[in-house]
Amino acid sequence: MSNNIVVAIDGYSSCGKSTLAKALAKKLHFIYVDSGAMYRAVTLYFLRNNVDLQNETQVAQVLENIHLNFHSRDYESHITLNDEEVSEEIRLMPVSENVSAVSAIHSVRVEMVKQQQRMGKSKNIVMDGRDIGTVVFPHAQVKLFMTADPKIRAERRYKELLPKNPDISLEDVFENLAHRDYQDTTRKESPLTRADDAIILDNTDLTPDEQLQFALDRIKPFMEKS
Ligand code: DC
Repeated sequence: MSNNIVVAIDGYSSCGKSTLAKALAKKLHFIYVDSGAMYRAVTLYFLRNNVDLQNETQVAQVLENIHLNFHSRDYESHITLNDEEVSEEIRLMPVSENVSAVSAIHSVRVEMVKQQQRMGKSKNIVMDGRDIGTVVFPHAQVKLFMTADPKIRAERRYKELLPKNPDISLEDVFENLAHRDYQDTTRKESPLTRADDAIILDNTDLTPDEQLQFALDRIKPFMEKS
């Protein structure tokens, strides 16, 4: 049996999951997988190809044409969609506004979970998302559930988006986040929920270094064992 270490980080949108996951991967030399980027890349493909989200048969067929790959450079996760680098485009509003609907589709989730489980089969990884500790890796050694004040989250995302989206408003970002929280937590398929054994990390008042230390303290005992 493989004794690789899996760190599962779940939580609401714009809680700093990917910042922490990347910092952990860098520090521990683990592989970082941004599972949200996968749902975003699928959404981009669906938007470009006018896929009817209500048509399960069409969605399932189209999924076969989507090939996703991660290329890790400096622990930044770069994703390709059918060999095209789409890391930036998947962060723009058209994708953000549609990704919740796409990630609620059963066949999409089945395919993404299968690919994610393959990635964590034999290597030490940090994966962030919404269902990593509950569905993808229910036996992950370390599970963190991240949360933060919604206003702080919106401000963080706004600052991130502004350079490339000068017309965006803080209100738009706040509403988009509230809408995604609602959809992520109430959807039928794998709703965002804390695994019973996940440790809550509320980072409203924590610096990135404090969050990193919090997580490292929980992972270290497993590293000593492996
Ligand atoms: O982490 P993110 O904001 O980039 O995720 C984009 C969307 O994908 C988010 O609205 C929820 C969905 N998602 C999911 O359903 N399951 C995951 N494991 C990761 C993301």
